[in-house]
Parts: sequence; C-alpha cells; structure tokens
Amino acid sequence: MTVRVERTEVAIIGAGPAGLVLAHLLARAGIDCVVLEDCSREHVESRVRAGVLEFPTVELLRELGLADRLDREAMTHRGVEFAFAGQRRRIDFEALTGKYITVYGQQEVVKDLIAAWLDRGGALHFEVADVTVRDADGTAPSVTYRAGGRSHRLDAAIVAGCDGFHGVSRASIPAGALEVADRVYPFAWLGILAEAPPTTEELIYSNHERGFALYSMRSPRVTRLYLQVTPDDAVENWPENRIWDELATRLPTGAGFDLRQGPILETAITTMRGFVASPMRHGRLFLAGDAAHIVPPTGAKGLNLAVADVVVLADAVERFLRHHDPAGLDGYSAVCLRRVWRIQRFAAWMTAMLHRFDGDDRFDRQLQLAELEQVTTSVAAATALAENYVGLPFERR
Ligand code: APR
Ligand code: PHB
Repeated sequence: MTVRVERTEVAIIGAGPAGLVLAHLLARAGIDCVVLEDCSREHVESRVRAGVLEFPTVELLRELGLADRLDREAMTHRGVEFAFAGQRRRIDFEALTGKYITVYGQQEVVKDLIAAWLDRGGALHFEVADVTVRDADGTAPSVTYRAGGRSHRLDAAIVAGCDGFHGVSRASIPAGALEVADRVYPFAWLGILAEAPPTTEELIYSNHERGFALYSMRSPRVTRLYLQVTPDDAVENWPENRIWDELATRLPTGAGFDLRQGPILETAITTMRGFVASPMRHGRLFLAGDAAHIVPPTGAKGLNLAVADVVVLADAVERFLRHHDPAGLDGYSAVCLRRVWRIQRFAAWMTAMLHRFDGDDRFDRQLQLAELEQVTTSVAAATALAENYVGLPFERR
C-alpha cells in the first residue's frame, strides 16, 4: 500500500489542552500545523479531568477569542477556603493579588478549542493509529501514522509532543537522552462528579485526621468532590453511601457548610505523582504538558502548566520559522522547566500541608496545622499561596 505523504510546518501529536492551545497560537502566527489525535472526538471531549483555570490561562483564551462560552458559563472564584482543626479560613485571591481563578471543566475547554479549530478549517485527525515520530534528531522530522485504512507520513519542520503522560513522544526519545525526576505519593484521590448543587461559593480544601478531602464544583448543578484514599484502593470499595459518609466526616459540615448529596455521575481514582522529564526537547521534537511533566492535582495546575509550555513553544517556533532565529527553541526547555519546578514545589507543598502521611506522628500533625494557621493568618504567607494558585505570569517576549 503506498504511503500518503503530507507536509506541514508543525506536526502536533495530541488534541488535549497542550496540543489544541498550541495549534491556535501557531495559527494566529500564520504557521501551518496539523493535529493528530488517537482517540475519537467524543472520547476526548468527555474525559472528566480538572476544572480550575488560572488567571493567565483565561486571559490567553480570551486573547485568542476562545472564551465566549467560558465567559457565559464558567464560575469566577475570588478566593478559596481551608478547613482544619474544626475551623474554616478563607484566602482572598483578589484582595491579595488582584486576580482570580475560573472554574470550568477541562473537557469544556477542550470542546471549545476543538470546535473553534474545526470552524477555522484547522487540520485535526481523530482516531489515528500507530503514530511514530521519525528523524527527530535531524532537520527533517516526520510523523507516520495510520488512518482511514492508509499509511501516512506527515513531514514537518517541528514535531510537538503534546500526547500526555502515556503518549509516544517522550517514549520516542532515547532513554539516555532524558533525565527523569519522579515522586509517587503514598496515597491517591477518589474523585466523584455528583448531580448536586454546590452549597458554597468557593472550593474547600480540608485537612482532616482521617485524610484529605476537597469540595469543588463544575456548575450551579454539579459538584466535584475528592477523598484521599490508599494508592491501591479501588472504586469497588467505595459504594455511594460510604463516599458520602466519609465526605461528611472530613468536610466542615456543621460549620455553616451543608454537603448536598445527589446522583453520582462518575467515580474514579487518580494516582498522585510528581514527574519531570528533562530536557523537554530532543532535536526537532519538543515535549509540552503532561508528555513532559505530571504534577499532583493539589495545586490544580496540570492544564495550566500545559498551556504555559505551549505559550513558550509557539513563540520559539515562530522565531525559528519566520525569523530564522533558533534562540527560542534552544531556550525552550530551560524556560519551561523553571516554571515546571516552581509549580512542582507549590503542588508538593500543598500536598504535604493537606494530606495524612502514613507514619505521621503527633509532631508532624502539629506542624501541618501550624502551616495552615500560618498561611491563613499571615498576609505574606497567604499572598505567596495566592500568587501561585491564581497563576504565575507566562514567560513571553
Ligand atoms: N497519538 C496521538 N494522540 C495521542 C497519543 C498518540 N500516540 N497518545 C495520547 N494521545 C492524545 C490523548 O488521547 C490526549 O487527547 O494526546 C492527548 C494528551 O492530552 P492530555 O493527556 O490532556 O495532556 P495535555 O494536553 O498535556 O494536558 C494536560 O490534561 O490529563 C490532563 O491532568 C492533565 O490537566 C492536565 C492536562
Ligand atoms: C477540580 O475541581 O477538579 C479540582 C480543583 C482543585 C484541585 C484539583 C481539582 O486542586
């Protein structure tokens, strides 16, 4: 069977937040790109993931003209609550930083980005198979794949690996060419989506002696809730009544907080991991988002970090392809990793402050409570948390 040869400037592997935002940024710069996605559109648009968008992320989506539905339907949160030792304390993002966060499901962002991309005639192939990165260490890379019963070769100047943690991009880099820093936490999160109206305006992170719990939301009708569980736990161990009972125990019910129950639409267990592969480049292959790094969800950073990577990558690619200046590409990994490690630090700090660790003794517990006391009473400490939570400014020229 003959191979169908196509050509573009940037081949993007993956239609998640990283790949889709990159496509829109490149299109705005007049750079031709093709997105290759191995799942169906329906699957990509239905995956329930995180739901907190940082201030810079929303500003970028607005700048790209991709935030119309978000501005109609999303929820603006100007602060966040911490519950511990029988009390609730609020940190006021807007008062401390002048910024806020936006609650809007990642799958909603992905739906909007795909719709806008297809509306503008963008090239996006779903359900491709056998995606393989070739000749990344040369000057004429390509991506081969199968689709529609045919073999394809997509020749490009640049390949963007936006295919997530389990994708092929990072795996295509010779092992000796990458350094990996990896931390698997000794617990996981059981997350549910419930058809139950939120009863608070903002998120509540709860440090409880039985373990962490998080009260979040997706809309005026849907709440998103999480419980710390053991890493080897299973959804089967958590019938609905047990989930609601444990949430009611760990969340500050009774302190003016009413945990409204409702039909559970989805239950899933997420591992807690910090992972960074460096450099985020191999020749003409550039890794972005979860393809390069994973952060524990305690800081609500995954999507936002993916967006921050591609803001840097899009600028670097434009400098290279339009101005023949390789400096942006040469500096891409270092610039991204500076932010990645600042976010890893923040997510690790939030995780350490809020979760129960096996082997914690009374001293450890008191230190955790003292950290929460400090961060909810000291303006300096609260500002440091707020700056990280609402989002550090993007690295832009
Ligand atoms: N070929 C093509 N597409 C692939 C391949 C492959 N071999 N492997 C994975 N993909 C697709 C996935 O189906 C997914 O749509 O790449 C996309 C990667 O998207 P994400 O995993 O969402 O990663 P990213 O865009 O970096 O966004 C990070 O997503 O998973 C969350 O918690 C994560 O919030 C973070 C955000
Ligand atoms: C969510 O709403 O899914 C969410 C919010 C905050 C987090 C993690 C997840 O830290």
